[in-house]
Amino acid sequence: MNPADIASWISDAQKAFSAASDLDQLKVARLAHTGDKAPISLASRSLGTLSPEEKASAGKLIGDAKAAIAEALASATDKLEASRDAKVLLEEVVDITLPVQRTHRGGLHPISIIKNEISDFFIEQGYAVEEGPELESGWLNFDALNIPADHPARTMQDTFFIEPVESGVVLRTHTSPVQIRTMLTQEPPIYVICPGRTFRADELDATHSPVFHQVEGLVVDKGITMAHLKGTLDNFARHMFGPDVTTRLRPSFFPFTEPSAEVDIFFNNRWIEWGGCGMVNPKVLATCGIDTDVYSGFAFGMGLERTLMVRHGITDMHDIVEGDLRFTRQFGVGL
Ligand code: DAH
Repeated sequence: MNPADIASWISDAQKAFSAASDLDQLKVARLAHTGDKAPISLASRSLGTLSPEEKASAGKLIGDAKAAIAEALASATDKLEASRDAKVLLEEVVDITLPVQRTHRGGLHPISIIKNEISDFFIEQGYAVEEGPELESGWLNFDALNIPADHPARTMQDTFFIEPVESGVVLRTHTSPVQIRTMLTQEPPIYVICPGRTFRADELDATHSPVFHQVEGLVVDKGITMAHLKGTLDNFARHMFGPDVTTRLRPSFFPFTEPSAEVDIFFNNRWIEWGGCGMVNPKVLATCGIDTDVYSGFAFGMGLERTLMVRHGITDMHDIVEGDLRFTRQFGVGL
């Protein structure tokens, strides 16, 4: 075990460690110069075969050599780890100044918002929500509602008829046929609202749209009176327009209700017509097979566009129909 050999093991190891250009190469060098088969390890293991005097001096030489090799390894490791970290920082850098692609958060259309609001309000009181088809039979849209064949609403000017006209199918002109569908399929007590899309042959202008929305209300039960109707409308109006709103019923006529009334609300210091209502005409109940000696009912119908326009001071129907996000976004309800 001569000191020159030991010195060369040290310098071999030092050279190998500093020649390694990354941590993988350093690992190979480490195994070669400090592993089981490295000369320093073999020499260390052979110490046991020496005489006690030789062992002391050789042991010191080898111990010092091991320390020198370990130090060279540590400093090479530090250097290579530092350069790996620097490289990673450089390669994985994120340029936070890059412009991002902005996408807008979706939101509900105000008509959907108000429809949900109305549905929630009535569902809380035990009503069910019913929906009918937009393509409706003329019988359900008109006849069953006691609207006679010669009624002006049944002309080409008002109604979209589906070809062939003899099919009798129309785009429903109101949500009232859903009343009929409900009464034909359910036994009283009936408490439903029917929101939905309706169609009339109108030009789109500031206050009209050929496609619009209504919500229908229908209650059929024992002992239902106009007082129940008025109370329900008062609550409904307060929910939609605030606690200070006043309602009034103005005598009117609808073929499917008797008596009939217009519902007005006093809002922003003036009376505004809000919708129609009345006690369900016994003829209509009878058409649906409901015993008019036992049951009575009330009904009402409002336009959703109109409700929205009054409540938010919207003066042009185009804003509701066109779907311009700058308008819709003001209502600000996320999904
Ligand atoms: N269907 C009527 C319309 O479209 C609105 C209406 C009025 C509905 C009175 C009703 C009602 O249920 O009782 O103009």
